[in-house]
Amino acid sequence: AEQTLILVKPDGVARGLTGEILRRIEAKGYRITGLRMLTADRELLAAHYEEHQGKPFYEPLVEFMSSGPLVAVRAEGDRVIEGFRSLAGTTDPTGAAPGTIRGDLGRDWGLAVQQNLVHGSDSTLSAERELGLWFS
Ligand code: GTP
Ligand code: MG
Repeated sequence: AEQTLILVKPDGVARGLTGEILRRIEAKGYRITGLRMLTADRELLAAHYEEHQGKPFYEPLVEFMSSGPLVAVRAEGDRVIEGFRSLAGTTDPTGAAPGTIRGDLGRDWGLAVQQNLVHGSDSTLSAERELGLWFS
């Protein structure tokens, strides 16, 4: 079955929302097949976010993502990549639809980067690449 990489970002862990986010993944019907808590270093994040290198939010993004522990999740199920993106909601949590993780649990905190609780791979290619980085 299809697999995706999900991250509960440092803001989600710090706010005590890890359980709530894992609950939503499982309640939707996806299976968690891997789980790791770690503090990511800049090297791992540079590989993870290579598509964003050079953008104005890149430095604050890496700073934020390495600021504390995060939880990496491997989840499995038919169309899980698309399904989790839908559960997560749009990138900007202020406008994310209610019912989504970002819409229900996130908001703007006035910082240089969107603190939006979760990451989910956006294609089969990025899922394979990202799972190789976080679950090698
Ligand atoms: P991920 O699932 O985390 O990859 O989110 P996404 O796919 O919705 O967003 P994208 O991959 O475009 O960007 C990665 C992360 O960079 C986002 O989740 C935000 O934390 C941050 N980010 C993206 N675009 C912007 C932006 O325009 N401004 C700011 N401040 N942060 C951004
Ligand atoms: Mg993305």
